[in-house]
Amino acid sequence: MSFTSDRLLLFGATGDLAQRMLLPSLCALNVEELLPPNLQILGTARAPMSDGEFRNFARSAIEKYLPAHRRGQMADFLNRLSYQPIDATTIEGYDKLAEQIGERESLSIFLSTGPSLFPPTIKGLQSAGLTDGDVRIGLEKPLGVDLESSREINDAVGAAFPEERIYRIDHYLGKETVQNLLALRFANILFEPIWNARYIEHIQITVAETVGVDERMDFYDQTGALRDMVQNHMLQLLSLVAMEPPTSFDAGAVHDEKVKVLRALRPIGRGESATGQYGAGTVAGDPVSGFLKELDKDSDTETFVALKAHVDNWRWAGVPFYLRTGKRLPERVTEIVVQFRCIPHSIFTGANTVPNRLVIGIQPEENITLSLMAKVPGLDRDGISLRRVPLEIAIPDPFTGQVQRIAYERLLLDLIEGNRTLFVRRDEVEAQWEWIDAIRASWQQAGQAPEPYDAGTWGPEGAARLVARDGVSWND
Ligand code: BG6
Repeated sequence: MSFTSDRLLLFGATGDLAQRMLLPSLCALNVEELLPPNLQILGTARAPMSDGEFRNFARSAIEKYLPAHRRGQMADFLNRLSYQPIDATTIEGYDKLAEQIGERESLSIFLSTGPSLFPPTIKGLQSAGLTDGDVRIGLEKPLGVDLESSREINDAVGAAFPEERIYRIDHYLGKETVQNLLALRFANILFEPIWNARYIEHIQITVAETVGVDERMDFYDQTGALRDMVQNHMLQLLSLVAMEPPTSFDAGAVHDEKVKVLRALRPIGRGESATGQYGAGTVAGDPVSGFLKELDKDSDTETFVALKAHVDNWRWAGVPFYLRTGKRLPERVTEIVVQFRCIPHSIFTGANTVPNRLVIGIQPEENITLSLMAKVPGLDRDGISLRRVPLEIAIPDPFTGQVQRIAYERLLLDLIEGNRTLFVRRDEVEAQWEWIDAIRASWQQAGQAPEPYDAGTWGPEGAARLVARDGVSWND
């Protein structure tokens, strides 16, 4: 299984993801000579286009989305590209695709289309023998809209590809600091002994976005923040924070530990969630419209969600995991906050000790900050004075010269090279959906509608109340 692909077949090659992420990532990898020298990339989508037109299309996308200093000699990359239109819903056309691919011993396929196209595409690929041998398949999210539909997709893909040849993408796993979280936990002796309920009071995971829903109105209105962000990215972050040490950085070992966490998630109870929907407001100084105005109809879709989750196992008993994500918030920030407990006894009478806090910044800044108590310099004639000081590692500093990569660079390379560690296994996706479906059912049962919040604020009042009840505040 450890072959390197020299054919990549890209479905959805003219789509938004291909333009913004996939083509720029492949070009950047090419410039750094990380792509296999013989790799040919065949793009396919419904639109009729010649090879030349597709290369022009790719050039414009790369010029738009890849910084100039990473583009290199684009001609060299563009020469790897060819194009074949296809209507993925009908069987016709796949033979032609197979013919154009020719050599298929080392083929990787990437489906970056809507999930409703996955089953007919798999059938088409199967009919043309493009699922045989060691062919790998990468699947872009969303993998369904609930457990049932995700099972249908997984069954359809699983009928043609064994699990070890299926690469389910969660692009958060391609982010450098997300992987660094594993290094922080498992390449240091410091944290692991105190990474548990005895020393940790609570954990917060925030994925805040300033963007609204933009052109994806219909998709988003059917989806909402819970399914768009929590089901996948946030639960992946949670499982990496909470999992037991895997025995190695091997795909199976990591997936086994993550899935145990996902299965240990307690169903969200009454009063343990808050939802919101943005109204008009101001973000970064610009006035923006509310969600309903953009949608131009009434809707109960949440654009913000906050949850108080529990991982019911020995390590995390009684430790809340507060999760929140939303659109049109005041800042774009993804971070994990580990709040440690108070010291058991203070010897410094009269001095305030603030419990330690570890903040892992994922984006836009990649940094790790540990707040510690230190003595304020002085003679202390009225007793010692303490102050909270940060111990900070800004990731780009010690690694100057390292480029900031698009998450898809890592994931595409891993697909091409056959490394599944940073992909999501079927049982993980299904455990994620099971937990999410129960939350949606409970909202429906309680008739919970999203609370309005102004664009440019940190979400609805309910989110602040959710944590305030426990004497906690969000790390704004
Ligand atoms: C996608 C969601 O999966 O992740 C989008 O569908 C969201 O709604 C995006 O904006 C956020 O990704 P990133 O990498 O910008 O944090």
